[in-house]
Amino acid sequence: MCRICAAVFQADNVAPLLHAGLKRLEYGGYDSAGIATLHGGKLYIKKDKGKIDEIHQALNLDDLPGSIGIAHTRWATHGAPSKVNAHPHTDCKGEIAVVHNGIIENFLELKQELENLRHVFISRTDTEVIPHLIEEYYKRTNNFREACFQALRRLQGTFAIAILSRYAKDMIVVARKGSPLLLGIGNGFNFAASDAIAFLDKTKTSIPLEDGDIAFLSSSSYEIYRIEDATPVKRKTITIDWDLQQASKEGYEHFMLKEIMEQPYTMRLSLGAQKQYVDLLAEFMEKSSKNFLVAAGTSYHSCVAASYLYSRLANLATIPVIASEFIEQYGNAIDVNTTILFVSQSGETYDVINAADFARKKACTVLGICNVIGSTLTRMVRAYVHQQSGPEIGVAATKTYTSQLIIHLLLSISLAKKRGKISQSEMDDIKETINELPSLAEQILISKQKEMLEVSKLIMNKNHVFFLARGMNYATALEGRLKLLEIAYIPSTAYPAGESKHGPISLIEEGVPVIFIAPNDETRKLLIGNIMEMKARKATIITLGEEGDSELMQLSDHYIAMPRMLPIITPILYIMPLQLLAYYTAVNKGLDPDKPRNLAKSVTVL
Ligand code: M6R
Repeated sequence: MCRICAAVFQADNVAPLLHAGLKRLEYGGYDSAGIATLHGGKLYIKKDKGKIDEIHQALNLDDLPGSIGIAHTRWATHGAPSKVNAHPHTDCKGEIAVVHNGIIENFLELKQELENLRHVFISRTDTEVIPHLIEEYYKRTNNFREACFQALRRLQGTFAIAILSRYAKDMIVVARKGSPLLLGIGNGFNFAASDAIAFLDKTKTSIPLEDGDIAFLSSSSYEIYRIEDATPVKRKTITIDWDLQQASKEGYEHFMLKEIMEQPYTMRLSLGAQKQYVDLLAEFMEKSSKNFLVAAGTSYHSCVAASYLYSRLANLATIPVIASEFIEQYGNAIDVNTTILFVSQSGETYDVINAADFARKKACTVLGICNVIGSTLTRMVRAYVHQQSGPEIGVAATKTYTSQLIIHLLLSISLAKKRGKISQSEMDDIKETINELPSLAEQILISKQKEMLEVSKLIMNKNHVFFLARGMNYATALEGRLKLLEIAYIPSTAYPAGESKHGPISLIEEGVPVIFIAPNDETRKLLIGNIMEMKARKATIITLGEEGDSELMQLSDHYIAMPRMLPIITPILYIMPLQLLAYYTAVNKGLDPDKPRNLAKSVTVL
């Protein structure tokens, strides 16, 4: 889950540009970083462990000479974060440098083979086998391109790599298999990066490489081939519709807060999702005899909420499944009559892509909801809806979650219409409600910031926090809990409230915070019973409920009053105070919510 970036310019000094690109990719990995450039036939490398700013302060990354270079920000998989394990890695003579995102599964056997041929390894990474393999094939062929082809054919596992060498003076070699990689095509320069955000300030013209592609980039041209047989291929050019301003903090202290606060805007964008694609997805789902919703993390939580919505509005059963479990759990039960909706913000999550690949081979209809056009997922599916949340930089998903919920809501309405399960007056109510979403979101975000800062003080020093709900807000409990534990490092538990008596209640004692999501719907009455149970055990009750609900207010130690709204939109709006709660708890604890330890924005490895 590292990120890579490479650039070749005619004359400009490339190091500051790579440094700027790396900073924008830092969300993908931040335990070490490095840059290599080529100048006057010599490789120059600076790298170390730590955050990019710390490394730059100590080493000055910008003064590396040359107009061609590669860069890397790391999230360790093989070998602890250290200078020696930081990328770029080189061959024995320091003439070939490589940066890599992914995992080389056969690296131990390749390493053994290369050591037998007297190659000397200095790091504990899997990546280091790549420059040594290229070195070995270069010795045998005296042709650098051929050496790259032959070396890459030996690699098993996943990779997005960039190669720089004095044997190919004006050229960068990049390749991908299973990890994202896009070219950024410019006038007098070319880029390659794991995410277009690295080159968006220079060009919006991009070519997503396919799995098994290798590309040779100079400042004025690019060529793409298949790794396996060196056949030349043409790939589609796309235009990225984000700009850098959308990917900057715009005065907020953290990306996470900026992204929480811009939800009214992103909700408007998602509500405008192209109707013909929403209807197309609905058409496939409606015809199918089995429907699954498959995703990881926050995207999975959107699927949990959606399974209630599809049932409630359209009488359609859908099974939400965690992507990494899908093949084991349902692999033998899917076939040509199955439709699977994969949901992924990045479109690059390994477990999602792996499950989608499996489902395609089983002849299932594979659909998607995704935020990144041109990502691997969008290129695998039969049809997808673009959720239009704009770039999300904070590792914790916030605005992309509410956008996904909106797309699911639009889809469930389309399904309900197709299946004749919704009356005209219900439809009118829903339409009205949906149009109110952005302004309700605005109202909640403005009024709840200060309040959630105060609530965060109630929980920041606790050892455990519970989130309980019923019905579709069970997803809100799951997501509220994930936000809190991943950025504020507070162990937390989310349960359907009805299930809490079957075990978790044993952890409740005086002062344990229990957060109830209790909107004014059919779950409210039953939740009151659950609140009483927790109160009887002296838990601290924090409740999110409708304004003016005096009964709930009386039962709660802290009551977070939400505006009146139709129950079907409560998962979209009730999560927002919980996002703020997690954010302020992390900040109060002196943690960086944008870069939680051990986490990367998208998990592109097994
Ligand atoms: O890009 P994806 O939606 O496929 O990512 C899935 C999860 O890795 C992601 O939702 C993760 O759980 C969030 N960053 C948590 O906030």
